[in-house]
Amino acid sequence: MEQPVSANDSEGKEEFMRYPEEVVEEIRMRSDIVDIISGYIKLQKKGSNYFGLCPFHNEKSPSFSVSPGKQMYYCFGCGAGGNAITFVMEYENYTFGEALKYLAQRAGISLPEPEYSKEAREQEDLKRVLLEINKLAANYFYYQLKQPYGKIGYDYLRSRQLSDQTIRRFGLGFANKTSDDLYRYLKSKGYEDRILKETGLVTIEERGSRDKFWNRVMFPILDVNNRVIGFGGRVMGEGMPKYLNSPETKLFDKSRNLFGLNYARTAREPYILICEGYMDVIAMHQAGFTNAVASLGTAFTSQQAVLLKRYTSQVVLTYDSDEAGTKAALRAIPILKEVRMSIKVLNMHPYKDPDEFIKNLGAAEFQKRIEEARNSFLFEIDVLRRRYHMEDPEQKTKFYQETARKLLEFSEALERDNYIQAVSREYAIPYEDLKRLVNRLGLQIAPGISQNDRSAGREQTAVNGEYREKSEHSDMEKGQQKPGVKRRKEEGARQSQRLLLTWLIENPRLFEKIKDIITEEDFTEPLYRQVAEMVFSSQKQGNLNPAAILNHFINDEEQYREVAALFHAGIKGALNSEEQKKAFSETVLKVKKNHLDWASRQAQDINELQQIIKEQAALRNLNISLD
Ligand code: UTP
Ligand code: MN
Repeated sequence: MEQPVSANDSEGKEEFMRYPEEVVEEIRMRSDIVDIISGYIKLQKKGSNYFGLCPFHNEKSPSFSVSPGKQMYYCFGCGAGGNAITFVMEYENYTFGEALKYLAQRAGISLPEPEYSKEAREQEDLKRVLLEINKLAANYFYYQLKQPYGKIGYDYLRSRQLSDQTIRRFGLGFANKTSDDLYRYLKSKGYEDRILKETGLVTIEERGSRDKFWNRVMFPILDVNNRVIGFGGRVMGEGMPKYLNSPETKLFDKSRNLFGLNYARTAREPYILICEGYMDVIAMHQAGFTNAVASLGTAFTSQQAVLLKRYTSQVVLTYDSDEAGTKAALRAIPILKEVRMSIKVLNMHPYKDPDEFIKNLGAAEFQKRIEEARNSFLFEIDVLRRRYHMEDPEQKTKFYQETARKLLEFSEALERDNYIQAVSREYAIPYEDLKRLVNRLGLQIAPGISQNDRSAGREQTAVNGEYREKSEHSDMEKGQQKPGVKRRKEEGARQSQRLLLTWLIENPRLFEKIKDIITEEDFTEPLYRQVAEMVFSSQKQGNLNPAAILNHFINDEEQYREVAALFHAGIKGALNSEEQKKAFSETVLKVKKNHLDWASRQAQDINELQQIIKEQAALRNLNISLD
């Protein structure tokens, strides 16, 4: 039997391995980051750091920096960052365990057997077996496609203009009309019902077990490591449902995977194309757009956004041009914005989806549409406008107001202004009038802002436009806070903590300046608190080592990325300008004040509260000198 779908058998284990922390740390210490990375890309020394072309995104001038001092790398272009271990993981597409093995070998360290708990071992065994079964099933379906009774499936794929090469590349297959042949095949390989039940491929019932998929062409779904984790199947003819997907299993979490990402992640385009369907992905790949992915028959999720962000900061939405596709795009945009993706929307007109478009107008025309793709904000405004009759003055006014309200989503004044300009040009609204409307609305409704404001929050405190500060003030005077205010204050507190940590890591001499004011306890955000504890204690022992601290978070992807970003927030050099000094002391005060406010809410007795009030009063007179 042919083996169209590759899978590395050892990979299933990795997630559950735990090596002793000292071992991991020793390997990391013995793997000099400059040494490791210069084995892959050319680095040039500039000042105390090294620079080169980022291997994780497409660029012409070097924004990838490697710090021998911190033993970390960071790309100012795409935000990739980490230590020697993660570099090897990302570059070689290794799991954590594989990267460790590789680096251990390189450094001449022998790796002990990993530690497992009993439960972890069971989980790991189950997952490994499920992967094995999925791979068998994928090969079985592929084999069927080439049999006489699979001809209907094969002909269908060919009628949709897929080449043999494409069919093989995606490992497409066929589930025949027999209702239990896959079940019997897997039984013959020695798997018990108990296990088969967990695969989602069969339903085990007393009156007989049945295959979930039959009379369908089959699309294996691979994770980024090329392992089969589930399937989609398209019915032959008009049956319902048109597409059927594997249910969620121990392996398959729809919301955390994207079809085609195993290929798209290595396509050297600076952006990724997101579409709706399996056929669209495959048609695009066949036409040379190997950077296309699809969410798996569900709405785009924030986990998928986080996953994508590992590989790119730019996406182009190529959803269907119908009502449903437009809705899907409108839903995906705020989710993608949340991870700070730059988003464009492709105009598919007059065709329904990428598959149809490419069939009719070809790849070159599609490429043109990619280049002309519209900024997602302007796309949103376009859709908005279609809902109003612009001949009716009342409706037109409503449209302007709604547009102004949406413009308020940009918390940063300069960016907001750029969009005000673009919108006023596009819809022939006098610029000054629109600007005034935006500012006036800002004063009225800030800071709750509009309901669809999902991306607000992150940046809001630092560089606000005029209206925000004022309105927040008046809110506080009234002594009542809208939920939006609370959320923004929390985000502001988080941001100050993030900034302060970054500053301290960049300039350890600042510890001296704040030692009587700030301790790790002032960090109220749990993740930052953890980091602060390590930063402060290692600083006290004189061995502040960001890369080692980062290692503590290596088993949690999201935390890991956040901590890596923390160590690289891009504040460069010493605090030299007056403005920077002022910003620093303001940040210190904010962090302190936030902690005291927090503590006063938690206070258990009057003495404690009095103490806090005293400290709060002292804070008002505090002056931090950086000279
Ligand atoms: P479409 O109905 O647009 O399908 O659904 P399509 O890809 O154009 O299908 P073809 O061209 O007729 O083969 C888009 C995607 O939504 C999911 C599938 O992932 C599909 O590719 N979907 C659709 C389902 O999960 N179930 C359905 O019943 C329909
Ligand atoms: Mn279609």
